[in-house]
Amino acid sequence: MRVLGIETTCDETAASVVAMRPDGGGEILSNEIFSQIEEHAAYGGVVPEIAARAHVEMIDGIVRRAMDKAGVRFSDLDGIAAAAGPGLIGGVMVGLTTGKALALATRKPLIAVNHLEAHALTARLTDATEFPYLLLLVSGGHTQLVAVKGVGDYVRLGTTVDDAVGEAFDKVAKLLGLPYPGGPQVERVARGGDPERFNLPRPMQGRPNADFSLSGLKTAVRLTAERLGTMTATDVADLCASFQAAVVDVLVDRTRAGLKAFRQQVGYPNALVVAGGVAANDTIRRGLARLATGSGLKLVMPPAALCTDNGAMIAWTGIERLRLGLVDDLTFAPRPRWPLDQNAERVHNGKA
Ligand code: KG4
Ligand code: ZN
Repeated sequence: MRVLGIETTCDETAASVVAMRPDGGGEILSNEIFSQIEEHAAYGGVVPEIAARAHVEMIDGIVRRAMDKAGVRFSDLDGIAAAAGPGLIGGVMVGLTTGKALALATRKPLIAVNHLEAHALTARLTDATEFPYLLLLVSGGHTQLVAVKGVGDYVRLGTTVDDAVGEAFDKVAKLLGLPYPGGPQVERVARGGDPERFNLPRPMQGRPNADFSLSGLKTAVRLTAERLGTMTATDVADLCASFQAAVVDVLVDRTRAGLKAFRQQVGYPNALVVAGGVAANDTIRRGLARLATGSGLKLVMPPAALCTDNGAMIAWTGIERLRLGLVDDLTFAPRPRWPLDQNAERVHNGKA
């Protein structure tokens, strides 16, 4: 089985062809990506209109490259998968419409993929992880702990009541004068810093539920920076390192609470899976690795390139759904909001 996957929900234009081997494992035949970072850098964040236009300009070429590199023709495909949300609506429309047009022209089934489900199922592409597992999804727009019980079967155990973790990294970077996107910059600068110099809060630590809160931590960083006034390079490095250390503690504590909720509601997880752009962070990876070892859990962290937005995760989710007969109609409408767990309550700003 071979599926083309298209991703355009944020600031990455991506396409990939993934095949399912006879043993059920996945094989990435191509994984093309155009990152719009430079287009948005001057604004310090993603500008939806600029993103939508860039997707329109790039998508045909990216799809063609993905097909060429995989060495397949459209007639060799079994389906066309496109991310249909959640995300910036202009971009989602570009990718989904491209997917629909290709599905119509090639008479192949369309799979309208939930971008969050794609992050959630990547661990099955990379590590053949068996259900059920506990997913910590940490990206620029989402921070959630989810019990992944099967394809399309998710229970949200916790979410953020304010900022997403990646968003907190991006805001901290911005207030310290580091370029966008902030996560990788904060990590880079933190490498030379002292994580114990500033004693920053660990919001929600010790709470029995598995929810997150990041805005107080971000504010504490801002107040510390204001108190310091003109900051030396050492100050910036120490503040980045102290912020990152606080985030690690928060993620470990909240994941521990999520694990407890999982055991109560679902049973024993086969693994702890970490996904989303923030999972590219090495210090966070090490913190979660310690938690997994201490809890006797297998830890699955897809390689960084498959943690950030990409087309392969969309193609793989297309395969997982297609083999269960879960295909979509060409009338499927793009969805700016699309929670993984439809029963979970909407939280505060709706980011989750
Ligand atoms: O999953 P993703 O590529 O896009 C979505 O938000 O869906 O995640 C992007 C987020 C950004 O906020 C970025 O700053 C953050 O992930 N990020 C990182 C790192 N690499 C990316 N945060 C911390 N450390 C990193 N190394
Ligand atoms: Zn994402």
